[in-house]
Amino acid sequence: MSQSTSVLQSVLVDLLDLGLQGKQAHWNVHGPAFRSVHLQLDELVEQLISWQDEVAERISALGGNPDGRATAIVSTSTVPTLTAGPLLDTDVVTVFTDRLTATSQAISSKFADLEDDLASQDVLIGIVAGLDKAAWFFRAQKG
Ligand SMILES: [Fe+2]
Repeated sequence: MSQSTSVLQSVLVDLLDLGLQGKQAHWNVHGPAFRSVHLQLDELVEQLISWQDEVAERISALGGNPDGRATAIVSTSTVPTLTAGPLLDTDVVTVFTDRLTATSQAISSKFADLEDDLASQDVLIGIVAGLDKAAWFFRAQKG
C-alpha cells in the first residue's frame, strides 16, 4: 500500500464509522430538539456517504483496494465508539461536535504525508472544510 492509499484508507474507515454512528444517533436520539437533530443527522450521513465514496474511489484510482468491510472499521477506526441505547439530544450535539472536530483535525494532520500527491490532498482538504462546517452546525446549537 502506498503512502497515499494508506492515508486515504485511514480516512475512509473513520468516515464510514462516523456514518454508522450518525444513523445510530438518528434512530436513538430523544429530547426537545428531537426532530431537528434527527433530520440533521440524516443530512450528515448523506454527506459522509458522498465523502466515503470520493475517498474510496481515489484509492482505486491510485491502484489500491479500498477496504470498507465492517471488520476493517472495527479494527482500525480512530473514532470513539457511541454508547448503545437512548441518546439525549443535547448529548448528541456535543458528541458530534467533538467527533467531527476531532476527525477534521486528524485528517489535517496527514496533509504533510500527501505533499507528493496533491490530488489526494485536495480531496481531503475539501472533506476537512465540510467536516468543519458540519461541526459548526452542531456546535451552534449549544447554549
Ligand atoms: Fe430515518
